[in-house]
Amino acid sequence: MISTNASIARVPTAILISGRGSNMLALAKAAQSPDYPAEIKLVISNNPEAEGLQKAADMGITVIPLDHTAFKSRLSFDRELHKHLKANQIQMICCAGYMRILSSWFVGQWPGRIINIHPSLLPKYKGLNTHQRALEAGDKEHGCTVHYVNEELDGGDIILQSKFNILPNDTKETLEKRVLEREHALYVKALEKILRNIECS
Ligand code: GRF
Repeated sequence: MISTNASIARVPTAILISGRGSNMLALAKAAQSPDYPAEIKLVISNNPEAEGLQKAADMGITVIPLDHTAFKSRLSFDRELHKHLKANQIQMICCAGYMRILSSWFVGQWPGRIINIHPSLLPKYKGLNTHQRALEAGDKEHGCTVHYVNEELDGGDIILQSKFNILPNDTKETLEKRVLEREHALYVKALEKILRNIECS
């Protein structure tokens, strides 16, 4: 089921985080506009100490801390995660700094409904330390990617990318800062792009 307002249907969306939550906040702020096609209904963190949980709660979003260390397996954690998403009628899932690999079972439950933001120009630099790796490779360009989540880490189809030139005196810190600024705008744009084409059950 989807909720509606005067202008458009909004897709009930959950955001998965593990830490700071700046991308989560960018999505939540965009979704305050009634014309944005997502309604951010739920923020779940596998890290109960994640700073982003309080930021989401301050915006009136339901938050669930779900400590993965309390579960005996990845699958049992993912089943609990799935239960919360279903109980909140979620239709779309955005991973935003979510530092846990999703099980094949979970990915299979949500085909075409999970997206992620990654701080590199995929398929380059899947995984961690992307800024350092771009510098070490002598790359001329760097950026970020929003992509669908499939069973391969950072391997799903690309939705949108944002790129910029690496400058001679860039460090991993300056790259991280410039990538993050672009991530916020890119994630908002990418979610909007796919939700305009999605059907809800
Ligand atoms: C972002 O750079 C994102 O691309 C990566 O982790 C960082 C999360 O930052 N996966 P935040 O928690 O959204 O502030």
